[in-house]
Formats: sequence, C-alpha cells, structure tokens
Amino acid sequence: MASLTIRKLDDAVKTYLRLRSAKNHRSVEEEVRVILRELIEGREEPLTPFSAPPAPSTASTPQRTGAVPEASVTLIIGGGIAAYKSLDLIRRLKERRVEVRCVLTKAAQQFVTPLAVSALSHERVYTDLFDPQSEFDAGHIRLARDCDLIVVAPATADLLAKMANGHADDLASAILLATNRKILLAPAMNPLMWNNAATRRNVAQLQRDGVVLIGPNSGEMAEAGEAGVGRMSEAIEIATAAERLLRPPVPKPLAGKRVLITAGPTHEPIDPVRYIANRSSGKQGFAIAAAAQAAGAEVILVSGPVDLGDPPGVTVRHVESARQMLEQVQAALPADIAIFAAAVADWRVANEGEQKLKKTSAGMPPLQLVENPDILATISKLPEKRPPLVIGFAAETEHLIDNAKSKLARKGCDWIVANDVSPATGVMGGDRNTVHLISKNAAKNGEITVDSWPVMTKEQVAIELVAHVAKSVTGKSLESAS
Ligand SMILES: Cc1cc2nc3c(=O)[nH]c(=O)nc-3n(C[C@H](O)[C@H](O)[C@H](O)COP(=O)(O)O)c2cc1C
Repeated sequence: MASLTIRKLDDAVKTYLRLRSAKNHRSVEEEVRVILRELIEGREEPLTPFSAPPAPSTASTPQRTGAVPEASVTLIIGGGIAAYKSLDLIRRLKERRVEVRCVLTKAAQQFVTPLAVSALSHERVYTDLFDPQSEFDAGHIRLARDCDLIVVAPATADLLAKMANGHADDLASAILLATNRKILLAPAMNPLMWNNAATRRNVAQLQRDGVVLIGPNSGEMAEAGEAGVGRMSEAIEIATAAERLLRPPVPKPLAGKRVLITAGPTHEPIDPVRYIANRSSGKQGFAIAAAAQAAGAEVILVSGPVDLGDPPGVTVRHVESARQMLEQVQAALPADIAIFAAAVADWRVANEGEQKLKKTSAGMPPLQLVENPDILATISKLPEKRPPLVIGFAAETEHLIDNAKSKLARKGCDWIVANDVSPATGVMGGDRNTVHLISKNAAKNGEITVDSWPVMTKEQVAIELVAHVAKSVTGKSLESAS
C-alpha cells in the first residue's frame, strides 16, 4: 500500500489540512484518514476553511470591522437607472447589521460596476450562472438559501416577468426560482412600463405568490419630462422594509402594565447559620418574569435565594424570608397583575437563636414553629391596592386539582396555577412543568374552570401563562398585539 507524505503536498492543501484538523481537534494524518473515509462513504464534511469563494480579481476585500452581522440579505440588482440607489441601499443595510451579498444582472453592470458594489458590500459580487468559481458547490443555490431575505432593487419589468413566469436562465432569475426565503421587490421603471397590462398581470401573480413589494413611488422619471408611478423607493425605505421582514416587531400586549412576581424559596432562619428551606429553584417564576418583560410589562420580581441571574430588563428585589418577601411585595404595589410563584415557607422558627445553637448533652434544642404571613391571601384580600388580577401557585403532591380549587376559594385569588411537585415528577428544580390553570369566571357566577396543559418547559409554561394574562387583562393576544 502506498504511503502519503504530507510534507510534499501543495502549500494550499497543507494549509487547508492544518486548519481543518485544528478545527476538528485531530492530527493532520488522522484528518486525512477521515477525509478519505468520508469520500468513500460519500459524506464529506463541508470544506469549511475553503468554503468562502475566492476574492474577485476586480476588487479588494477589506477586513470587516464593527458589529457582527445579525442577518444576511442576497441583494439582486437589476438593470435599471435606479441601480445607483442600490449602492446606498447596501450601506443602509450594513448600518442595520445586515450582511449583504450582491448579484448583478448583465444589464445591471451597464449602470453600476461590480467593483463599486464589491467595495461597498465587502464581499465578492456574483454575476454569472455558469461561474466555475462559485458553481463548484452550486453557488446559485447557496445564494438563494444562505440568507434570511432576498431583496431585488431595482426590480426591472423584465425581472418581474421572469419571476412571475418561473424563468431561470441567468443567475438572478435562477436564485429567485430556487429560494425558499422571503423576497422583497423594489420595482423601478417608466410609468408606462409599470402600467402596462403585462406588468400588471405579473405584479398580481407575484403578490399571489407571497412576494412582498415596496413602492414604486410616484415622481419624476430619469427620462426628461416624464413623471408618474415608477420611481424606485428610496434606499432608506427599502432598508426599513427589509428590516421589518428580517426582524418582525415583537408584540407587546402588556405594554403599560405593571406586573409583580414572586419566585424561589424562602429561607427561614433557625440561627445565624442555619435555616429552613425548600427545593424551589425559582426557574418558573424567573421564566414568567422574563416572558412578562418580553410582552412589554414593567416587571418587579421579588425573589428568594436562588442560583439564577436576574432577567434583563426586570427590577429584582432579593429577599431571604417570607416576612421580607411580603414587605417587598407590599412596597411594590400598586400593580395591575400579581403572580405569586414563590414557594414561601409556611412556618418559621419562633425562637430563632441569636447565636449559633450548640450541640449539648441535653439533646436537640426545641424548635418552635409559627405560621408565616400568607402573602397570596394578604394581597388577594387587600381592601385597597388589590391588583385586578391575582394569580397564585399551588404546589401539591396529592389531590392536585381538589386542593388547588379549595386554595383558590380560601385565598381569594383569581387564578391558581397548580402543579404536581411529587419527587417523581422532577418539577422542583427541574426544567419542565405540567400545570393546570384553575380560574374563577366572574362572568359566569364565579364558575371554576380547569385548563390542563401538556408537559412543557418552564419557559413555555411562562409564555403560555403570560399569553392568558394578556388576553384576560387587555383582550390582546401575544400574536396579534403590537
Ligand atoms: C438607459 C436605460 C435605462 C433603463 N431603465 C430601466 C428601468 O428603470 N426599469 C426597467 O424595468 N428597465 C429599464 N431598462 C431596460 C432594462 O435594462 C432591460 O429590460 C434589461 O433587459 C433588464 O435586464 P435585467 O432584468 O436582467 O436586469 C433600461 C434600459 C436602458 C438602456
């Protein structure tokens, strides 16, 4: 069997092997064995260190600086006089942390040069369907799919016609036919071309196909003395439309609402070093706080001792004991919604030691327990400042629904989120939860309904609960509100 001396390989191949083996934490020899095995099995790894197409000879590719791009756009520039505005569009998109890869039609190159486009986009520019450099790995498919959005600006009458009829005889039309990404078109043409029956038919077809259009605007044409609808939208308008498609606005149904949440266990001191606690991790309450904040609410989270970072954008008050928790809850009122997810200790030690209790021959020191304040009942029964929606949690290990229903009546709250915390469920401290939402329907004579949810992550439970709260308080759903 022949042996291979890696030292004697081409420099480029050696560099590639070195990069790839370092990336995969293998020796170079081992990496060669993996490549050969994968070749034989027909499942080569992507050639990552080589996958970026070589830089064009027409333009330099300066190092990218500044913020890391968060989205990417394939920008197709068609052959219209408005192509010059696409140079500004590249800049506007990059300002919005969007990576831009540009494709120029043959006609577009009559209006702007690949050199200018490449210099502005800091990327190589693509012009040919039959380009051996980019087609070695089906580059037109990559340009069609390795992006979050395709923008066509200017979208010429010719490109609209090709798209509407499924043509794919050049790079731009092949990409547009091969993509599964959203497409944004910025048409630009003479008003007579725009109003031509063929263009009208094509535009109507494209809209039926789900393509999004921006413009054209009305105004003066490049052709002397002509005016009407056909001017391409301004670069800033196109960039804003692209951004809306790339980053749709998040609904904020709880904007303007103040939500008070408790989470975690409480620690009830026995002496300065010992305490009574429970196994609550605080994950569920923290997830609710994050979901309410994401829904636009002002959130105050009163948390017992937990190992979790404060959710961003949430005001967190850290406490130890049930009494401190009640104090902070009362200080945080008024609130529109109160969600008491903390596992508050029912009892505390009445005779808390001022010094560390010592082991003595007299045996264990007697611990006298007294009841802690009931935060849920206290707030639910406030004559003034009672939040309009008060939600309690019932962690039960048996007779879940019955116990939760009687808790709802006893405490005077509006909803109870009941969950089974028997050790076998793994809910306490775990990442998943199975809950039942028990609510009193004021419109139906206080009739109690039980809504049982499937097993979900605590984050999903939080999002679902916040969606129910938003619907109940504002009538807005998380999907539709803005
Ligand atoms: C000076 C000049 C300006 C043009 N401007 C436009 C235009 O604004 N919109 C358009 O649809 N076609 C315009 N055309 C015609 C297109 O360039 C032509 O239809 C071309 O085939 C379009 O190719 P493409 O769609 O592959 O880019 C113009 C042609 C010339 C010569």
